[in-house]
Amino acid sequence: MPFLVTERLEKSYSLGKVPVPVLKGITLRIEKGEHIAVIGPSGVGKSTLLHLLGALDQPTAGEVFLDGKTLSTMTPDELAELRNRDIGFIFQFHHLLPEFTATENVLMPALLTNSTSRTAAAVRAKELLEKVGLGARLNHRPGELSGGEQQRVAVARALMNRPRLLLCDEPSGNLDGEAAASLHRLLIELSQSEGSTLIIATHNHELAETMERVIELRDGKVAE
Ligand SMILES: Nc1ncnc2c1ncn2[C@@H]1O[C@H](COP(=O)(O)OP(=O)(O)O)[C@@H](O)[C@H]1O
Ligand SMILES: [Mg+2]
Repeated sequence: MPFLVTERLEKSYSLGKVPVPVLKGITLRIEKGEHIAVIGPSGVGKSTLLHLLGALDQPTAGEVFLDGKTLSTMTPDELAELRNRDIGFIFQFHHLLPEFTATENVLMPALLTNSTSRTAAAVRAKELLEKVGLGARLNHRPGELSGGEQQRVAVARALMNRPRLLLCDEPSGNLDGEAAASLHRLLIELSQSEGSTLIIATHNHELAETMERVIELRDGKVAE
């Protein structure tokens, strides 16, 4: 079975009593290490799809299989562990903790799992911040960094636990053209060197076209 599979995935939200269908049967086969852009106009369901792939929300119908696991059969604790160990998330807003330094923010996912020693985690956090070009900003707090730099810290944090899947929802939505392009290059480079499968939701077609594979959502379906 491919690394990530969705089988006729559907999602409706209910508005009062009226169900609003958003995803209407999404079937995907994604191999390990693929770099994919999910595109489509605002409101088409890109974020909804990423939430389902990342086990942040449950489908109305259909199934997600991630790395051989059937998400609908997992307990909330198992899902929480899966999210923290195997999935890295990057959102449009960095969601860094303002009171903590760049290094401390990057360390946070490792502290939540306890799977590595503190020393090993500290070494990795520093290496990651160097890889994203912030070797000289290790002890800066988010408020002391530019928007592009804050988003790079979020990238380093997402990679901390060596996730097999990196889900990015409009990661460059708040950045200007230059910073956006360089963030996308960085995401591609790092997911290659870390061996992560990369999925970026974006409405920036120019950036999407630099990706290996583009999945276009249209009216709740895939128009690949
Ligand atoms: N929690 C929610 N409750 C009700 N409707 C929602 C909710 N989240 C998203 N929607 C609706 O689902 C549709 C798809 O949203 P979204 O996945 O955020 O699209 P995109 O990321 O492509 O802009 C939109 O019409 C939005 O209003
Ligand atoms: Mg969205």
